[in-house]
Amino acid sequence: MKLKIALLAGDGIGPEVIAQAVKVCEAIAVKFNHEITWKPALTGAAAIDAVGDPYPDETHEICLNADAVLFGAIGHPKYDNDPSAKVRPEQGLLKMRKKLGLFANVRPTFTFPSLIDNSPLKRERIEGTDLVFLRELTGGIYFGEKGRKDGGETAFDTCTYTREEVVRLAKKGFELAMTRTKKLCCVDKANVMETSRLWRETVQAMEKDYPEVTVSYEFVDAVAMRLVQWPNSYDVLITENLFGDILTDEASVISGSMGLMPSASVGEKNALYEPIHGSYPQAAGKDIANPLATVLSAAMMFEDTFKLKKEAKAIRDVVNKSLEQGIVTEDLSGKNKAYKTSEVGDWLVNNL
Ligand code: IPM
Ligand code: MN
Repeated sequence: MKLKIALLAGDGIGPEVIAQAVKVCEAIAVKFNHEITWKPALTGAAAIDAVGDPYPDETHEICLNADAVLFGAIGHPKYDNDPSAKVRPEQGLLKMRKKLGLFANVRPTFTFPSLIDNSPLKRERIEGTDLVFLRELTGGIYFGEKGRKDGGETAFDTCTYTREEVVRLAKKGFELAMTRTKKLCCVDKANVMETSRLWRETVQAMEKDYPEVTVSYEFVDAVAMRLVQWPNSYDVLITENLFGDILTDEASVISGSMGLMPSASVGEKNALYEPIHGSYPQAAGKDIANPLATVLSAAMMFEDTFKLKKEAKAIRDVVNKSLEQGIVTEDLSGKNKAYKTSEVGDWLVNNL
C-alpha cells in the first residue's frame, strides 16, 4: 500500500521522538511491503521562527493532502512566561485542529503489565485498566469568545456548544463503546453549567439508538476522583474540551509515564496522531525523551487510518517486548540502565 504521511515534528523533543517513529514506520513498511512518502512541514515555535505563523498555510495544505498526519509536540518556554506574546506556538495547534476539523480526540489509557509498579497508584487499583477518553477538540471554552474589558481589569472566556457538536462526538463515543464493553460515561458539570445540560440532554436522547450501551452521567469533579480510585470501572468516557484536557493528563499517571500514551485526533476527513505529552523543553536535544508514545501513536495510525491491523500489532508487540526487557528511557529505567531515545528507536527497529 502507498501511504502519504504529513510529518509535523514541532518543538522541543518533538523532532527526536518523531525520528524514532519514522524509523519504526519505515521498518514496518519494509516488513509488510508498503511505501511511505513523508511530507515534512513546519509547526509551532519552529514555524513562528521561520515564517511568523505557528500553523502556516503551506503546512495546512500538506496536512489536507496527506492520508494522515503524524505530529510531535508544540510549545517553547520563551512564550510561556510572556503573556503579552502576540503569536504563541499553541495557537498553531488550535488552528490546526479547527482547520482540519479534528473534533474528536481519542486518548486511551491502559496499563502495561511490566510497568504496573511504575505508577504511583497501587497495583490492585490500576491492574486491568483499559479506558478511552473521547475529548471534544474544536469547541468549548478553547474556541469561545474571549477577551478583556474594564480597561483590561476583567477577562473572560466563554464556553459554547451546539447540539450538533455534541451529537457528532457522542456518536463516536457510542460507536466505540459498541466495539468494547458497551459502557459509556458522559462527563459533565450539569449541576452548574448550561453547556453541560445541553450535553446531558443530547446524549440522553441518543441512548435509544444504542439500546445495548449502558450510559452513566457523572460530574467531572467526581470523575477526577474516581479515575484514580477505581480507574478500571471506566471504559469509554466522552467529555468537552477543557474537562478532557485535564482528565487525560490525570489519567496518564495510571500508565506510569506521560511518555507512553498515544492519541488520535479525528474529523470527517482528516486524522492526526500524536503523543499526549508536550514538548518537554528541558529535555530537548538531549536524546533522553521517551519515544514510545509517538511510536504507539504511529500504531494507532496504521490501525485506524490505514486499517492495517497486523502492522499496528507488530508495533505494539515490539514496544511491549522493549518494556519487558527494560530497553527504556530514563523516565522508566529506575535504578537500571537508561537507554537513549535513539537507542530505544534502534532496538525497536532491530527487533521488528
Ligand atoms: C493537549 C495540550 C494542548 C491543549 C495545549 C498545548 C494547547 O495540552 O493537547 O492536551 O490544551 O489541548
Ligand atoms: Mn493537555
